[in-house]
Amino acid sequence: MLRNGKFRIAAILLLLLIKATVHSQVPKNKGINHRDKEKIDNLLKTMTLDEKIGQLSLFRSGWDVTGPIINVNDKKLIGEGKAGAILNAYTVDYVHDLQQLAIEKSRLKIPMLFGYDVIHGHRTIFPIPLGQSCTWDLKIIEDAERIAATEATAEGINWTFSPMVDISRDPRWGRVAEGAGEDTWLGCKIAEARVKGFQGNDLKANNTLLACAKHFAAYGAPQAGRDYNTVDMSQLSLYEWFLPPYKSCVDIGVGSMMTSFNEIAGIPSTCNTWLLEDLLRKEWGFNGFVVTDWTAINELVSHGIAEDNKDAARLSLNAGVDMDMVGNTFLDYLPELLKEKKVALTRIDEAVRSILEAKALLGLFDDPYRYCNKTRQEQEIMTPGQLALARKMVSESCVLLKNPDHILPIPGKVKTIAIIGPLGDSKTDMLGNWYAAGQWEKCITLLEGIKNRTGEHMKVLYEKGCNTNDSDRSGFDAALKLAARADYIILALGENGWMSGEAASRSNIDLPGVQNDLAETIVKTGKPVAVILFNGRPLVIARLNNLPVAILETWFGGTQAGNGIADVLFGEVSPAAKLTMTFPRNEGQIPVFYNGKNTGRPFNLNDRDAKYVSRYLDCPNDPLFPFGYGLSYTSFAYSNLETNVDTRNIAVTVQVANSGNCDGEEVVQLYIRDNVGSITRPVKELKGFQKVLIKKGETKTIAFNITTDDLAFYHPDLKKYWEPGEFTVYVGTNSAETLSKSITVK
Ligand code: GLC
Repeated sequence: MLRNGKFRIAAILLLLLIKATVHSQVPKNKGINHRDKEKIDNLLKTMTLDEKIGQLSLFRSGWDVTGPIINVNDKKLIGEGKAGAILNAYTVDYVHDLQQLAIEKSRLKIPMLFGYDVIHGHRTIFPIPLGQSCTWDLKIIEDAERIAATEATAEGINWTFSPMVDISRDPRWGRVAEGAGEDTWLGCKIAEARVKGFQGNDLKANNTLLACAKHFAAYGAPQAGRDYNTVDMSQLSLYEWFLPPYKSCVDIGVGSMMTSFNEIAGIPSTCNTWLLEDLLRKEWGFNGFVVTDWTAINELVSHGIAEDNKDAARLSLNAGVDMDMVGNTFLDYLPELLKEKKVALTRIDEAVRSILEAKALLGLFDDPYRYCNKTRQEQEIMTPGQLALARKMVSESCVLLKNPDHILPIPGKVKTIAIIGPLGDSKTDMLGNWYAAGQWEKCITLLEGIKNRTGEHMKVLYEKGCNTNDSDRSGFDAALKLAARADYIILALGENGWMSGEAASRSNIDLPGVQNDLAETIVKTGKPVAVILFNGRPLVIARLNNLPVAILETWFGGTQAGNGIADVLFGEVSPAAKLTMTFPRNEGQIPVFYNGKNTGRPFNLNDRDAKYVSRYLDCPNDPLFPFGYGLSYTSFAYSNLETNVDTRNIAVTVQVANSGNCDGEEVVQLYIRDNVGSITRPVKELKGFQKVLIKKGETKTIAFNITTDDLAFYHPDLKKYWEPGEFTVYVGTNSAETLSKSITVK
């Protein structure tokens, strides 16, 4: 499949530019130079207590139709040098005004941090992170964050509350939209790519910003998939499955961490000394600063671990929190707590130092207006190259779940396409959630994207048919009439943008409203139907899956959604994306994920009637679509899996043939099973992948090399090491369809 020439060239040019500005990794040693250290030492000696506590406070800005708004008292505090950072403030003029207040009015002229939730783009909005993870393309993920950082810093932002690296195995939890799916190993790789994209290699450059790994820790494992709910698991599971991506961010030099709302086994993260001091700082060597999530300190009272906000402030500061996000508890209570000797000045100074060091790292002491460059704001936002990369990422994130009789790509002989469904022409929903400064009016909808491609040579009709989430069927007739006029039907179905993200847990994750009924009604026309899904989580789509339709999962693609999807629908791009989160058959299976344990009574597909095994009476064990699953317009055949064990190295090769009718990319996945361990081990664990272009008729030999380090796992003593013995190597197109070979590693 040839890509669209002009977009491809623009994307390549942009990638070359990105490469030129980013050299290598962020220094983990923080890189505070002697001059900055001296400046900070002197500041700490001269700052009043109020000025110190101001640095530990994150204030909020807001936006009204008339423009930015900020609380009058907060503005006064800025002028008095008692505000360390502001969130949700951007555009050069606004940031400049607030920074000028801090610099020109205050005694010590300490510049402020300007933080914002740049989660999947700033003005150019990319697919939601869950969709990005399905590209299995670490380079494009890093490049997208580079663009996000370029645009955000062009509007005055120097700190992002991103990446969200919470592993989750529960699609009822709405924030899976912001993450990288269920796999820890892949989650670590993606976490690194995102921090590198944001922080680049020189935090003092005016187009890089401080990243913030969140939500520390294990926020993605709430009981019942209900946001903010209790997290309770063994230390072993915490270490093995949920902590590693945060550690990957620390290892690559992330500048800040955000505490999560949840408790872990009785201790909320925001006052968890073991988590913030013993693990994060002492064991992992984190040397950035810790900010809480929104009013998370105040919420310690609701958790029932603090008597009141004053007690909460004490617990939180003493546990290792450095900055209070909009809770004002440090501002209100630290002077008293200090007087009462319930907190120590040394702890306050430690927290202030970590924040001043971050400002030094960003070069804000050298030039507090470094991020206030009007020319950049005019010239570096939503450029053709940035939009081209966004379009490319949309195409790369689309997962082809089903394609009976090659319904997709849309045949050239089609004369009239009917687009039916509530997501067919919805600009606002294309942004998904957490879209920051994204502008819905600039989004390309599916209808627009298809029209952009078909021009005059194909008629394109549209009917909404129904809403996303109510019982109104009054639009069905019009939809049926429209379908009668077409020879090809596209159903645009799914969730609205706000049915996932924060505070958006769903107990029923089916297609909402009457969309299934609409689909079943339209399919009765007997015409070819392709379903385009827009959603922020894996859905239960059993009814849809029972219909003879193609199904393309497109998540929420952002600014270029319609164009990127159209590139796939018309065969410009052969889909290569693979699921990074399992699609369950029903909610009863949740949590269902690929790297589970075998148990003592495993269900065996060869013995389907066995009763006394780990199974349901009313549903198979396997999910509807497994981790790593995704189809292509072509087909791939795997053969000749070979392994060679040489002491600590395990070489694996496999042949992959493109046995279909077009070129295509394939994500070849390598999994390992440790057959016998001193503790039980998962039936499979992802340990490598390669995304390769294989031309029609071509066969490629794909080689992997892993070491015994890749076989290491945490033991009950929380030490991580590997154990010699028998292993099974799996290589395949997804976690369920693999070739396998046994090996012995001594
Ligand atoms: C929210 C979110 C967090 C975000 C913060 C600032 O409640 O939990 O992810 O960064 O507040 O908007």
